[in-house]
Amino acid sequence: MPLMKKRILTGDRPTGKLHIGHYVGSLRNRVALQHDYETYVLIADVQALTDNFDRPEILRENIREVAMDYLAVGLDPKECAFVIQSQIPQIADLTIYYLNLVSLARVSRNPTVKSEIQQKGMGEDVTAGFVCYPISQAADITAFDAHLVPVGDDQKPMIEQTREIVMKFNRLYGETLALPEGLYTEQGRLPGTDGSAKMSKSLGNTIYLSDDEAAVNKKVKSMFTDPNRLTGREPGNVEGNPVFTYLDAFHTDKARVAELKELYSRGGEGDDGKPLLGDSKVKAELAVALNEFLEPIRTRRREWETGDAVWDILAEGTARGRARAEQTLDAVKTAMKISYFK
Ligand code: TRP
Repeated sequence: MPLMKKRILTGDRPTGKLHIGHYVGSLRNRVALQHDYETYVLIADVQALTDNFDRPEILRENIREVAMDYLAVGLDPKECAFVIQSQIPQIADLTIYYLNLVSLARVSRNPTVKSEIQQKGMGEDVTAGFVCYPISQAADITAFDAHLVPVGDDQKPMIEQTREIVMKFNRLYGETLALPEGLYTEQGRLPGTDGSAKMSKSLGNTIYLSDDEAAVNKKVKSMFTDPNRLTGREPGNVEGNPVFTYLDAFHTDKARVAELKELYSRGGEGDDGKPLLGDSKVKAELAVALNEFLEPIRTRRREWETGDAVWDILAEGTARGRARAEQTLDAVKTAMKISYFK
């Protein structure tokens, strides 16, 4: 009997280009695992609509940008289906069934959704669609009957919600759906260039995978470091300093990073009276490391920027995704005894 590969489902909202935080948080895991799992990546345009319903025209170009970022970091469309969420009606069907399995109180408690509502200033006007997107995300994951979901750690509450829905479904209607597990990176979340906990477009603290060298240099130069280090001679703080978090993530020479940390923490000046290791010197090394990391990504991205080849890949991946989701919906309806014509 051929060995069945387990399945991965993961995804992103197409609201902009992807950044190095996405890379550290989940893209890197997806690239590493794509050969060992049957992998689907969902471009979650329906979820993006939950807070962009008044401007659906942004989706088309952003879907293309996200797909190009996937290709650029090395997701291989032969190994991994790129699926556009709105073109999989089975996900919407599943969402409707799952809405009955979650209490309003439970869905209102989701910490990621709560902080988004606050951050976006939605207040009382928050829509039912937005509050319930974790239920639709459970439909995303289970439509592909996924075993593993590589995501950033801000998605933990979504995985938890999905697992609750799956357990309840299986208990009520019989063992039907795989119980998915989240896969988070050890390194955790990459902070923004401004030192805030999360890198995000709305905070304007991102370095995009598609940024050119000049943009990277400029952003790194203005990065937040240790605010108490005024001349570069003071002992500096490496912990919680985003420049060092990025060095850990992207500098390939770990011994050099250790040396930089040591010098920075020690402070002091050389015989010439200049700081031994000023902020601008560390930043310059970081900019080189980042540009070295990004260069092959930019080169690969460029190959897709002209023409329509990306849309062909999306159409093909979406068709594969639909076939898989159809199987799941069939099983779900059968379990629920609502497959009347079979
Ligand atoms: N909520 C995810 C984000 O904001 C995107 C997403 C939608 C997703 N559907 C998913 C992630 C399914 C993992 C699995 O980035």
